[in-house]
Amino acid sequence: MLYHLFLLPSIAFALPALVPRQQSGNSTTQQNSSNSTEAPFTYRDVSVTGELGNITFPGGPFVPPVRGNNPRPSTNTSENALSEPFTPSGGNVIKNPEYVALSNFDEQSLQVGLQQEFLELDLFNRILTLFNEADFEAAGLTAEDRSLIQFMADQEIGHAVAVTNMLNPDKAAKVCTFSYPNFTSVQDALMFAQFVTRWGESGVLGFLPHMDSRPNAQILLQSITTESRQEMAMRQLLGLHPMPVWFESGVPQAFAWTLQQRYLKDCPENNPRIQFQIFPDLIIENQVNALGGKAALSTNRTLTSYGREIQVSWESPGRSTGPNNSYTTNSTAEKPRFAAFVQQLNVTYVGLDNVNLTSRTASIRQPGSQVYGPYSPSIVNETSFLVLTDSNPFLTPYNLTLINKHVVAGPAL
Ligand SMILES: *[C@@H]1O[C@H](CO)[C@@H](O)[C@H](O)[C@H]1NC(C)=O
Ligand SMILES: *[C@@H]1O[C@H](CO)[C@@H](O)[C@H](O)[C@H]1NC(C)=O
Ligand SMILES: *[C@@H]1O[C@H](CO)[C@@H](O)[C@H](O)[C@H]1NC(C)=O
Ligand SMILES: *[C@@H]1O[C@H](CO)[C@@H](O)[C@H](O)[C@H]1NC(C)=O
Ligand SMILES: *[C@@H]1O[C@H](CO)[C@@H](O)[C@H](O)[C@H]1NC(C)=O
Ligand SMILES: *[C@@H]1O[C@H](CO)[C@@H](O)[C@H](O)[C@H]1NC(C)=O
Ligand SMILES: *[C@@H]1O[C@H](CO)[C@@H](O)[C@H](O)[C@H]1NC(C)=O
Repeated sequence: MLYHLFLLPSIAFALPALVPRQQSGNSTTQQNSSNSTEAPFTYRDVSVTGELGNITFPGGPFVPPVRGNNPRPSTNTSENALSEPFTPSGGNVIKNPEYVALSNFDEQSLQVGLQQEFLELDLFNRILTLFNEADFEAAGLTAEDRSLIQFMADQEIGHAVAVTNMLNPDKAAKVCTFSYPNFTSVQDALMFAQFVTRWGESGVLGFLPHMDSRPNAQILLQSITTESRQEMAMRQLLGLHPMPVWFESGVPQAFAWTLQQRYLKDCPENNPRIQFQIFPDLIIENQVNALGGKAALSTNRTLTSYGREIQVSWESPGRSTGPNNSYTTNSTAEKPRFAAFVQQLNVTYVGLDNVNLTSRTASIRQPGSQVYGPYSPSIVNETSFLVLTDSNPFLTPYNLTLINKHVVAGPAL
């Protein structure tokens, strides 16, 4: 049951595809276009009648966090100021950067990131040893593909070294032992790897701009970009669409840690204790099966659709979990009222149906909202992070961690 994750496919759903085309009378301009005189990029109209169903959108229409025509808040720099020739003033350039953790926030975030790198390193190597050539061939994968997976494993060594150096080798977490789902096929295992890289990627994107040490953030950014490419490659090895989104979401550290700690079995005694929250498990009872495709650069598969009823159950807090079973799941939220889909730039809340607090079960209608309104990709069209919450605070990418105290259970992918 702990291993339900590896059975979960990406969530995708059918809405009319985006089709860029020349401007015409009946088209709509993409939001936040500038005053440029070039012809705006336009999309074919799609009907959205009735699309929003019972979805709750607190805070009204989503305002993109950066709007093109915002007056700039006054700062100490004027429009054309230079700090040096050819150097617009402002910014956070540090001339002699030091790559050290500057706060407990930085340190804890990096420790979770480091353990993530170890997990991926071990996992990718394990996939290569667990299955033989014929198994890979049955999944449509060649020797070239295996060497790609090997290369990705080696990338993790580099990332682990980089993060260890930021933390200082004396303080940095050391490798734990792992416990994985019982992989039944190459594709099973790669699907798991896709989820692991998914939360690895989103887990770092969520805190990167919050870091006290910008120099560390710089190096982490460069490693997580590689991780994002791994996530995409895993999707391609599975024959899924590589990136059916416009934005990769960032999630709180607690989301990544909740997902990661399940696979850490025993950790060395001197490893730092991770302080981020571990939420109770959320289980999707009726996952669709995304396995079965052959490796491909890109496919256009739609697995689930708007309005689909998702059955979930959840655990109550207080279960022992994590490395050496020495952590406890926790929730500071009240009764579950909403399902929050965290995807792309957005949190979309859907009211829970059929809530039974005795059996801890409920059902959820998959939302149909879209990133920038009706002409853009749907919010739920890839591996989304699903959590149950006790309320529906309006959140934007930079303050998403404020969701933590409202999380009853999750995330499920
Ligand atoms: C976890 O268990 C392992 C194996 O029993 C042990 O070596 C290690 O010291 C334990 N770690 C902690 C943090 O207690
Ligand atoms: C891709 O999927 C969309 C629906 O999501 C469909 O409208 C479109 O025709 C598909 N394209 C191809 C090439 O299959
Ligand atoms: C959850 O964490 C809070 C704050 O640390 C603590 O007071 C509470 O006892 C914890 N609950 C459980 C079930 O461990
Ligand atoms: C809620 O779940 C409990 C325990 O499974 C069950 O006995 C009860 O009938 C359920 N209530 C409703 C309204 O379905
Ligand atoms: C999510 O984005 C959609 C499209 O911009 C918007 O309609 C919706 O209000 C947003 N929801 C939240 C909770 O921000
Ligand atoms: C969802 O992703 C698929 C690719 O897997 C794409 O064809 C489809 O257009 C996307 N749907 C929406 C509504 O963005
Ligand atoms: C999150 O930030 C947005 C502005 O980007 C703000 O409108 C919203 O109130 C904030 N949410 C909370 C819970 O403070």
